[in-house]
Amino acid sequence: MTTYSTIGILGAGNIGQAVADKAVRHGHEVLIGNSRGTETLRAVVEQLGPKAHAVTAGEAAQPELVFLAVPFFAVPDLTGLTDWSGKIVVDTTNQFAAANPWRGRYDVGDLTGSEWVAERLPGARIVKAFNTLFAAFIAADPQHAEGRQVIFYAGDDADAKAAVAGLLDEFGFAGLDLGGLRAGGQLMQLDGPLNARHLLLQDVG
Ligand SMILES: NC(=O)c1ccc[n+]([C@@H]2O[C@H](COP(=O)([O-])OP(=O)(O)OC[C@H]3O[C@@H](n4cnc5c(N)ncnc54)[C@H](OP(=O)(O)O)[C@@H]3O)[C@@H](O)[C@H]2O)c1
Repeated sequence: MTTYSTIGILGAGNIGQAVADKAVRHGHEVLIGNSRGTETLRAVVEQLGPKAHAVTAGEAAQPELVFLAVPFFAVPDLTGLTDWSGKIVVDTTNQFAAANPWRGRYDVGDLTGSEWVAERLPGARIVKAFNTLFAAFIAADPQHAEGRQVIFYAGDDADAKAAVAGLLDEFGFAGLDLGGLRAGGQLMQLDGPLNARHLLLQDVG
């Protein structure tokens, strides 16, 4: 089974750092990039420790498994960074028109956010995940006395979903598969019934 020893993370804000922290704690090398350049990431990688590397956005897009942790409106900038074909891309984005949710949303027509993202990263195997929780719940220890923090995920590629399920398990979360990008995305997106649901799963038995 592939272990994804190196993980790319595009975006080094709340979500990018929270995911990077989980990845380095579990032994992965992390290539983390933004649009402003590696100099601006010095404090971030210092905080994350020696397994985290500040790289260009193009370099962060190279691993087989890449997290998208950029604003939704920045996704079109990522199209030309690499050949996305076959890569597993974990899409954490929400379709705000800007960082400020009150400014409304992009018009994605009939598509869910991740279907729209998939069209901009040709050939990528997209798994939507980590978008329904506030970053603080992703940064926190997922193992609570009452149960494990649930992370929903959805995607159209079974192998990509299995890879993400494996990572979630490794990080200590309880992954819940919601099906394909369309049906799952409708449940997970901002006006969906599972957005901002902070669930804990109790392991019984
Ligand atoms: N914050 C939350 O609680 C939360 C929860 C669920 C989902 N989300 C979603 O997760 C995504 C990230 O949210 P966040 O709160 O982590 O945002 P954030 O703190 O604003 O961080 C965004 C990161 O993306 C980088 N970025 C922006 N444009 C880029 C580009 N063209 N190429 C490469 N990097 C770029 C930014 O750095 P530069 O400006 O230097 O490029 C920054 O490091 C968003 O889509 C958001 O909707 C957020």
